[in-house]
Amino acid sequence: MAGDTRRICARAQEEGGRTVTKVLGIESSCDETAVAIVEDGHHLLATSLTSSAQIHALYGGVVPEVAAREHAMAIMPVLDSVLAHSRLSLSKIDGVAVTQGPGLLGALLVGVTFAKSLAAALNIPVVGVHHLQAHLYANALEESLHFPALALLVSGGHTSLLLWRNYLQWEVLGETRDDAAGEAFDKGARILGLAYPGGPEIERLAKRAAKKSLRLPVADMAGTLDFSFSGVKTAAKSLWQAHRDEPEEVAYALQDAVIKALMKNIERALARYDVKQIYVAGGVSANRALRDALRHLGMVRNINMSIPRIEYCTDNAAMVAALGYYRLREGQTMGGFEGPRPLWPLATVR
Ligand code: KG4
Ligand code: ZN
Repeated sequence: MAGDTRRICARAQEEGGRTVTKVLGIESSCDETAVAIVEDGHHLLATSLTSSAQIHALYGGVVPEVAAREHAMAIMPVLDSVLAHSRLSLSKIDGVAVTQGPGLLGALLVGVTFAKSLAAALNIPVVGVHHLQAHLYANALEESLHFPALALLVSGGHTSLLLWRNYLQWEVLGETRDDAAGEAFDKGARILGLAYPGGPEIERLAKRAAKKSLRLPVADMAGTLDFSFSGVKTAAKSLWQAHRDEPEEVAYALQDAVIKALMKNIERALARYDVKQIYVAGGVSANRALRDALRHLGMVRNINMSIPRIEYCTDNAAMVAALGYYRLREGQTMGGFEGPRPLWPLATVR
């Protein structure tokens, strides 16, 4: 709404003539309750996060009702902590951004309801953002963004390759047809009897592999930029049955197969699109072997490869606030009757 944007600008002027816009971001789509304050879409003033992952680990995966309850209990203390760290009062906040989807309905509901109530009480605009697009904006916290770019999103629920044309314009080039890359790690870890979330566990084990001679196949969606990771889980099960005395080697084979599948599609996309910049985001991009492979590719192809710092690869609220700034700047806000969007295809985001 134009009026809201004018209000942000007016508030910015009051702050001393500079265009200053402090956006409070809220993330509650899965098991992390996070709040952050970001200025001008890139300058992180404060961030706070708590995770219920340890509780879910007891069940081998996220339990939606438990996640929602934990968000309801944590959100106020997490907000208080961010305000204390930033030394700001709520009256200094110009806008609120919240993950509207995709994610767990009950978990999203806590964040969205909290964000709308806060914005109404403060009489400031609120915008709902897409969680995956927010992941990409973790890169805005590190450096200015450059377009056009290729973007690889690798999280627990999604694996997508995008052509990122401009701040709020992108095109989905390829997506997973079944499991996400993070799911391959999580399910593989479960097969090996490791804790949830599986990615860090597989990485830890894979690092200790000495032989590195076991291999797992990953389906190649030839001719497309799509991915498929469901077969690797079945193959990992068979490999584990045959090599029960070598968990490190099996973990390495799984990690290697997922990384190769991701790299292959990036190479394929580079052959089709003339870009000089690649952005990577999502929880799986915390994986050091993947980061090394991506950086190596960037070096040999002379492409600027941007990967957020490890703490901003996994779910956080700074990325939500950063994206929120750009959307609020365009006057985009969440309607009064809008709620969470647990299933929200990236391709339909406007
Ligand atoms: O983006 P994210 O924090 O949450 C979602 O939006 O899904 O991603 C979580 C996923 C999980 O599947 C987790 O196992 C994976 O990211 N992950 C990793 C690593 N750290 C987290 N996968 C591989 N290596 C890691 N170090
Ligand atoms: Zn995420």
